[in-house]
Amino acid sequence: MKVSPSIIAASFLDIRKVVTELEKSEADFIHLDVMDGVFVDNLTFGPDIAGEILSVTGLKGDTHLMIKNPEKYIDRFLDTGTEILTFHIESEGNKRSMIRKIKERGKKAGITLNPSTPLIEIEPYLPEVDLVLVMTVHPGFYGQKFKSEMVERLKDLNRMREERHLNFLIEVDGGINRNTAPQVAPYVDIIVSGSFIFKGGNVEDNIAFLKRL
Ligand code: DX5
Ligand code: ZN
Repeated sequence: MKVSPSIIAASFLDIRKVVTELEKSEADFIHLDVMDGVFVDNLTFGPDIAGEILSVTGLKGDTHLMIKNPEKYIDRFLDTGTEILTFHIESEGNKRSMIRKIKERGKKAGITLNPSTPLIEIEPYLPEVDLVLVMTVHPGFYGQKFKSEMVERLKDLNRMREERHLNFLIEVDGGINRNTAPQVAPYVDIIVSGSFIFKGGNVEDNIAFLKRL
């Protein structure tokens, strides 16, 4: 399993320490949650801070854009060097040209959808994307409860990938912990986790638990 710790659940004052801790761990990515206060009811950081974080680590960036107009900022987020750049199907802009742009810069283009959005909405893009992020909470805050009905969605997406001989990665985000991770593990390639990793116990051990799934 690949693991992508969501650092909004860590302390921003300690960000250097957090990054060093993640480098010592088995984490594969660093998940950066970008929120604009419009697309979701919360604000985090933009491309400058994302770029600064990625500039001090060898860990690959996994940037999740929860912003109304990702197309406007796509170049600036690509300049951060992030390995994965994921936008929401519910956001504005030309999805095909965003996917093309990300891939042209040699990065992985990800598409994601809210739990309330039908899976069929992203279907036309499946042959083009490198990754599908399945949200298992409504985006905006860490520490929310896992929506267990989304396990069916993960199964469906897995089946679609197999039947159509596609090879996008499947990532899951929201409410993943010791109990919910085993439920999704058979259907995903990458697990995002925030509060489980940072808000209890030892960060390295928590990551090691997810890695072993
Ligand atoms: C939610 C974010 C998630 C979140 C994960 O809007 O996209 O990445 O921070 O945190 P947990 O694992 O606590 O749900
Ligand atoms: Zn996220």
